[in-house]
Amino acid sequence: MTLTTKHFGVDIPVIGFGTWKLKDETAQMCVAKAIEAGYRMIDTAQAYENEKHVGRGIRDAQLPREDLWVTTKVWMSEFKQGDLQASIDQSLDRMGLDQLDLVLLHWPNRDVPLEETLDALNDAHAKGMTKHIGVSNFTTSQMADAVKLSKAPIITNQVEYHPFIDQTPVLEAAHSLGMSITAFSPLAQGKVFDEPVLKEIGEKYGKSAAQVAVRWFAQQPGIITIPRSSSPDHLAANNDIHDFELTPQEMGRITSLKANNQRLIDPSWAPNWDNAA
Ligand SMILES: NC(=O)c1ccc[n+]([C@@H]2O[C@H](COP(=O)([O-])OP(=O)(O)OC[C@H]3O[C@@H](n4cnc5c(N)ncnc54)[C@H](OP(=O)(O)O)[C@@H]3O)[C@@H](O)[C@H]2O)c1
Repeated sequence: MTLTTKHFGVDIPVIGFGTWKLKDETAQMCVAKAIEAGYRMIDTAQAYENEKHVGRGIRDAQLPREDLWVTTKVWMSEFKQGDLQASIDQSLDRMGLDQLDLVLLHWPNRDVPLEETLDALNDAHAKGMTKHIGVSNFTTSQMADAVKLSKAPIITNQVEYHPFIDQTPVLEAAHSLGMSITAFSPLAQGKVFDEPVLKEIGEKYGKSAAQVAVRWFAQQPGIITIPRSSSPDHLAANNDIHDFELTPQEMGRITSLKANNQRLIDPSWAPNWDNAA
Protein backbone atom coordinates (compact mmCIF):
# COMPACT_ATOMS: atom_id res chain seq x y z
CA MET A 1 0.00 0.00 0.00
CA THR A 2 1.44 3.41 -0.92
CA LEU A 3 0.18 6.20 1.31
CA THR A 4 0.57 9.61 -0.31
CA THR A 5 0.20 13.28 0.55
CA LYS A 6 -0.91 15.82 -2.07
CA HIS A 7 0.83 19.17 -2.54
CA PHE A 8 0.39 21.45 -5.54
CA GLY A 9 -1.53 18.63 -7.25
CA VAL A 10 1.34 16.15 -6.78
CA ASP A 11 0.86 12.85 -4.92
CA ILE A 12 4.02 12.19 -2.89
CA PRO A 13 4.64 8.82 -1.16
CA VAL A 14 4.77 9.43 2.60
CA ILE A 15 7.32 6.70 3.39
CA GLY A 16 10.66 6.72 1.63
CA PHE A 17 13.94 4.92 2.12
CA GLY A 18 16.91 7.02 3.37
CA THR A 19 20.36 6.11 2.07
CA TRP A 20 22.84 8.33 3.95
CA LYS A 21 25.92 6.31 5.02
CA LEU A 22 24.96 3.33 2.82
CA LYS A 23 27.86 2.72 0.47
CA ASP A 24 28.68 0.64 -2.59
CA GLU A 25 27.11 -2.86 -2.70
CA THR A 26 25.30 -2.27 0.61
CA ALA A 27 23.53 0.75 -0.87
CA GLN A 28 22.68 -1.23 -4.02
CA MET A 29 21.35 -4.24 -2.07
CA CYS A 30 19.37 -2.15 0.44
CA VAL A 31 17.72 -0.02 -2.25
CA ALA A 32 16.63 -3.12 -4.17
CA LYS A 33 15.37 -4.73 -0.92
CA ALA A 34 13.54 -1.55 0.05
CA ILE A 35 11.68 -1.46 -3.25
CA GLU A 36 10.90 -5.16 -2.87
CA ALA A 37 9.56 -4.42 0.63
CA GLY A 38 7.17 -1.83 -0.80
CA TYR A 39 8.99 1.52 -0.48
CA ARG A 40 8.12 3.75 -3.42
CA MET A 41 10.50 6.62 -2.66
CA ILE A 42 14.30 6.56 -2.47
CA ASP A 43 16.19 9.49 -0.94
CA THR A 44 19.85 10.09 -1.83
CA ALA A 45 22.17 13.09 -2.25
CA GLN A 46 25.28 14.02 -4.18
CA ALA A 47 27.08 14.27 -0.83
CA TYR A 48 26.27 10.64 0.08
CA GLU A 49 28.59 9.43 -2.69
CA ASN A 50 26.29 6.49 -3.39
CA GLU A 51 24.21 7.67 -6.35
CA LYS A 52 25.83 5.10 -8.67
CA HIS A 53 24.94 2.16 -6.43
CA VAL A 54 21.52 3.60 -5.58
CA GLY A 55 20.87 3.68 -9.35
CA ARG A 56 22.01 0.06 -9.65
CA GLY A 57 19.69 -0.98 -6.80
CA ILE A 58 16.79 0.76 -8.57
CA ARG A 59 17.54 -1.16 -11.76
CA ASP A 60 17.90 -4.46 -9.86
CA ALA A 61 14.38 -4.02 -8.44
CA GLN A 62 12.93 -3.85 -11.98
CA LEU A 63 9.98 -1.72 -10.97
CA PRO A 64 8.51 0.42 -13.78
CA ARG A 65 10.27 3.77 -13.47
CA GLU A 66 6.97 5.69 -13.17
CA ASP A 67 6.11 3.69 -10.03
CA LEU A 68 9.13 4.93 -8.09
CA TRP A 69 9.90 8.39 -6.69
CA VAL A 70 13.62 9.24 -6.70
CA THR A 71 14.99 12.25 -4.82
CA THR A 72 18.53 13.62 -4.81
CA LYS A 73 20.06 16.74 -3.29
CA VAL A 74 22.50 19.22 -4.78
CA TRP A 75 25.48 19.99 -2.57
CA MET A 76 26.15 23.64 -1.62
CA SER A 77 29.35 23.91 -3.69
CA GLU A 78 27.21 23.56 -6.84
CA PHE A 79 24.74 26.39 -6.22
CA LYS A 80 25.91 28.84 -8.92
CA GLN A 81 24.04 29.24 -12.20
CA GLY A 82 25.34 26.57 -14.60
CA ASP A 83 27.17 24.58 -11.91
CA LEU A 84 23.86 23.42 -10.46
CA GLN A 85 22.47 22.15 -13.77
CA ALA A 86 25.80 20.42 -14.57
CA SER A 87 25.79 18.71 -11.18
CA ILE A 88 22.24 17.38 -11.73
CA ASP A 89 23.35 16.07 -15.12
CA GLN A 90 26.16 14.22 -13.34
CA SER A 91 23.71 12.82 -10.75
CA LEU A 92 21.45 11.55 -13.56
CA ASP A 93 24.47 10.00 -15.25
CA ARG A 94 25.66 8.29 -12.07
CA MET A 95 22.19 6.94 -11.35
CA GLY A 96 21.50 5.91 -14.95
CA LEU A 97 18.22 7.86 -14.97
CA ASP A 98 16.69 10.25 -17.52
CA GLN A 99 14.82 12.29 -14.92
CA LEU A 100 14.59 12.73 -11.16
CA ASP A 101 11.28 13.12 -9.36
CA LEU A 102 12.65 15.66 -6.91
CA VAL A 103 15.83 17.69 -6.56
CA LEU A 104 16.48 19.50 -3.27
CA LEU A 105 18.97 22.19 -2.29
CA HIS A 106 20.76 20.25 0.48
CA TRP A 107 21.50 23.22 2.78
CA PRO A 108 21.06 26.98 2.47
CA ASN A 109 24.27 28.65 1.26
CA ARG A 110 24.96 32.22 2.41
CA ASP A 111 27.69 32.69 -0.22
CA VAL A 112 25.46 32.39 -3.30
CA PRO A 113 22.31 34.52 -3.66
CA LEU A 114 19.22 32.33 -3.25
CA GLU A 115 17.73 33.99 -6.34
CA GLU A 116 20.63 32.74 -8.53
CA THR A 117 20.37 29.20 -7.15
CA LEU A 118 16.61 29.06 -7.55
CA ASP A 119 16.84 30.40 -11.11
CA ALA A 120 19.26 27.55 -11.87
CA LEU A 121 17.01 24.99 -10.14
CA ASN A 122 13.99 26.28 -12.05
CA ASP A 123 15.98 26.02 -15.27
CA ALA A 124 16.77 22.36 -14.49
CA HIS A 125 13.06 21.85 -13.81
CA ALA A 126 12.04 23.58 -17.06
CA LYS A 127 14.52 21.39 -18.97
CA GLY A 128 12.85 18.26 -17.52
CA MET A 129 15.87 17.12 -15.48
CA THR A 130 13.54 16.86 -12.49
CA LYS A 131 9.77 16.74 -12.18
CA HIS A 132 9.71 18.73 -8.93
CA ILE A 133 11.95 20.91 -6.79
CA GLY A 134 12.38 21.58 -3.08
CA VAL A 135 14.73 22.60 -0.30
CA SER A 136 16.32 21.07 2.78
CA ASN A 137 17.38 22.53 6.13
CA PHE A 138 15.69 25.84 5.31
CA THR A 139 14.35 28.04 8.12
CA THR A 140 10.86 29.55 8.02
CA SER A 141 12.12 32.83 6.55
CA GLN A 142 14.26 31.00 3.98
CA MET A 143 11.22 28.89 3.03
CA ALA A 144 9.16 32.03 2.47
CA ASP A 145 11.97 33.59 0.38
CA ALA A 146 12.32 30.42 -1.72
CA VAL A 147 8.59 30.33 -2.42
CA LYS A 148 8.65 33.99 -3.52
CA LEU A 149 11.67 33.51 -5.79
CA SER A 150 10.65 30.24 -7.48
CA LYS A 151 8.44 29.83 -10.54
CA ALA A 152 7.87 26.11 -9.88
CA PRO A 153 6.32 25.13 -6.54
CA ILE A 154 8.71 24.29 -3.71
CA ILE A 155 6.98 21.05 -2.77
CA THR A 156 8.93 20.11 0.36
CA ASN A 157 11.43 21.25 2.98
CA GLN A 158 13.43 18.25 4.24
CA VAL A 159 14.38 18.88 7.87
CA GLU A 160 15.38 16.96 10.97
CA TYR A 161 12.16 15.72 12.53
CA HIS A 162 11.62 12.92 15.04
CA PRO A 163 9.67 12.62 18.29
CA PHE A 164 12.41 14.38 20.32
CA ILE A 165 12.66 17.70 18.46
CA ASP A 166 10.20 20.58 18.47
CA GLN A 167 9.77 21.63 14.84
CA THR A 168 6.50 23.52 15.37
CA PRO A 169 7.60 26.71 13.51
CA VAL A 170 8.69 24.93 10.29
CA LEU A 171 5.68 22.60 10.37
CA GLU A 172 3.31 25.55 10.65
CA ALA A 173 5.14 27.54 7.97
CA ALA A 174 5.08 24.58 5.55
CA HIS A 175 1.40 24.08 6.20
CA SER A 176 0.55 27.71 5.50
CA LEU A 177 2.65 27.66 2.28
CA GLY A 178 0.98 24.43 1.08
CA MET A 179 4.33 22.59 1.21
CA SER A 180 5.10 19.18 2.71
CA ILE A 181 7.78 18.51 5.31
CA THR A 182 10.12 15.57 4.78
CA ALA A 183 11.30 14.25 8.14
CA PHE A 184 14.96 13.23 8.13
CA SER A 185 16.60 11.17 10.88
CA PRO A 186 13.02 10.07 11.77
CA LEU A 187 14.29 7.34 14.11
CA ALA A 188 16.55 9.92 15.78
CA GLN A 189 19.43 7.80 14.44
CA GLY A 190 18.45 4.94 16.74
CA LYS A 191 17.41 6.91 19.84
CA VAL A 192 13.72 6.02 19.39
CA PHE A 193 14.36 2.36 20.19
CA ASP A 194 14.73 2.85 23.96
CA GLU A 195 11.99 5.45 24.41
CA PRO A 196 9.53 4.09 27.03
CA VAL A 197 6.37 5.73 25.60
CA LEU A 198 7.06 4.39 22.09
CA LYS A 199 7.88 0.95 23.50
CA GLU A 200 4.74 0.86 25.65
CA ILE A 201 2.47 1.86 22.75
CA GLY A 202 4.25 -0.69 20.53
CA GLU A 203 3.56 -3.50 22.98
CA LYS A 204 -0.18 -2.88 22.64
CA TYR A 205 -0.02 -3.41 18.86
CA GLY A 206 2.80 -5.97 18.72
CA LYS A 207 5.04 -3.37 17.06
CA SER A 208 8.52 -1.99 17.77
CA ALA A 209 9.27 1.56 18.90
CA ALA A 210 10.57 2.27 15.36
CA GLN A 211 7.31 1.10 13.78
CA VAL A 212 5.31 3.25 16.20
CA ALA A 213 7.48 6.25 15.24
CA VAL A 214 6.99 5.64 11.49
CA ARG A 215 3.24 5.24 12.04
CA TRP A 216 3.18 8.51 14.03
CA PHE A 217 4.66 10.29 10.98
CA ALA A 218 2.28 8.58 8.55
CA GLN A 219 -0.74 9.82 10.55
CA GLN A 220 0.40 13.47 10.45
CA PRO A 221 -0.95 15.41 7.46
CA GLY A 222 1.64 16.72 5.00
CA ILE A 223 4.57 14.72 6.42
CA ILE A 224 6.90 12.41 4.50
CA THR A 225 9.42 10.28 6.35
CA ILE A 226 12.58 8.53 5.15
CA PRO A 227 14.00 6.01 7.67
CA ARG A 228 17.33 4.42 6.79
CA SER A 229 18.61 0.93 7.52
CA SER A 230 21.45 -1.26 6.32
CA SER A 231 19.48 -4.38 7.29
CA PRO A 232 16.85 -5.95 4.99
CA ASP A 233 14.90 -7.10 8.06
CA HIS A 234 14.90 -3.66 9.69
CA LEU A 235 13.98 -1.82 6.52
CA ALA A 236 11.08 -4.19 5.84
CA ALA A 237 9.88 -3.84 9.45
CA ASN A 238 10.01 -0.04 9.24
CA ASN A 239 7.51 -0.11 6.36
CA ASP A 240 5.26 -2.68 8.04
CA ILE A 241 3.03 -0.08 9.67
CA HIS A 242 -0.16 -0.35 7.63
CA ASP A 243 -2.05 -2.78 9.87
CA PHE A 244 -2.53 -0.61 12.96
CA GLU A 245 -3.63 2.90 13.79
CA LEU A 246 -2.58 5.12 16.70
CA THR A 247 -5.37 6.72 18.68
CA PRO A 248 -5.50 10.54 18.97
CA GLN A 249 -4.38 10.13 22.59
CA GLU A 250 -1.36 8.02 21.56
CA MET A 251 -0.49 10.51 18.82
CA GLY A 252 -0.59 13.26 21.48
CA ARG A 253 1.63 11.34 23.91
CA ILE A 254 4.29 10.89 21.21
CA THR A 255 4.00 14.50 20.06
CA SER A 256 4.56 15.70 23.63
CA LEU A 257 8.04 14.09 23.61
CA LYS A 258 9.12 17.14 21.56
CA ALA A 259 9.66 18.89 24.92
CA ASN A 260 13.12 17.20 24.87
CA ASN A 261 13.95 19.43 21.88
CA GLN A 262 17.13 17.58 20.88
CA ARG A 263 18.75 18.49 17.56
CA LEU A 264 21.11 15.82 16.22
CA ILE A 265 22.30 17.40 12.96
CA ASP A 266 23.81 20.85 13.50
CA PRO A 267 26.95 21.38 11.39
CA SER A 268 28.98 24.60 11.30
CA TRP A 269 27.23 25.68 8.06
CA ALA A 270 23.72 25.33 9.53
CA PRO A 271 21.42 28.39 9.42
CA ASN A 272 20.09 30.11 12.56
CA TRP A 273 17.36 27.60 13.36
CA ASP A 274 13.85 28.70 14.26
CA ASN A 275 13.19 28.24 17.95
CA ALA A 276 9.91 26.81 19.07
CA ALA A 277 7.97 29.25 21.29
N1 LIG B 1 18.76 16.58 4.27
C1 LIG B 1 19.67 16.32 5.19
O1 LIG B 1 20.51 17.17 5.55
C2 LIG B 1 19.68 14.96 5.86
C3 LIG B 1 20.39 14.76 7.06
C4 LIG B 1 20.33 13.50 7.66
C5 LIG B 1 19.59 12.47 7.07
N2 LIG B 1 18.94 12.68 5.88
C6 LIG B 1 18.15 11.61 5.22
O2 LIG B 1 17.32 10.98 6.19
C7 LIG B 1 17.58 9.58 6.20
C8 LIG B 1 17.33 8.96 7.57
O3 LIG B 1 18.07 9.61 8.60
P1 LIG B 1 19.35 8.96 9.27
O4 LIG B 1 20.03 8.13 8.26
O5 LIG B 1 20.12 10.08 9.89
O6 LIG B 1 18.84 8.07 10.48
P2 LIG B 1 17.51 7.32 10.96
O7 LIG B 1 16.72 6.80 9.81
O8 LIG B 1 16.83 8.17 11.97
O9 LIG B 1 18.17 6.08 11.78
C9 LIG B 1 19.00 5.16 11.15
C10 LIG B 1 19.56 4.25 12.23
O10 LIG B 1 18.51 3.47 12.80
C11 LIG B 1 18.85 2.07 12.75
N3 LIG B 1 17.63 1.32 12.46
C12 LIG B 1 16.73 1.55 11.47
N4 LIG B 1 15.69 0.71 11.55
C13 LIG B 1 15.93 -0.10 12.60
C14 LIG B 1 15.20 -1.18 13.18
N5 LIG B 1 14.03 -1.57 12.69
N6 LIG B 1 15.74 -1.81 14.27
C15 LIG B 1 16.94 -1.41 14.78
N7 LIG B 1 17.68 -0.38 14.27
C16 LIG B 1 17.17 0.27 13.18
C17 LIG B 1 19.84 1.94 11.63
O11 LIG B 1 20.69 0.85 11.89
P3 LIG B 1 20.71 -0.45 10.97
O12 LIG B 1 21.37 0.00 9.68
O13 LIG B 1 21.51 -1.43 11.76
O14 LIG B 1 19.29 -0.89 10.76
C18 LIG B 1 20.58 3.28 11.69
O15 LIG B 1 21.64 3.21 12.63
C19 LIG B 1 19.05 9.53 5.75
O16 LIG B 1 19.45 8.23 5.39
C20 LIG B 1 19.03 10.51 4.62
O17 LIG B 1 18.44 9.94 3.45
C21 LIG B 1 18.96 13.93 5.29
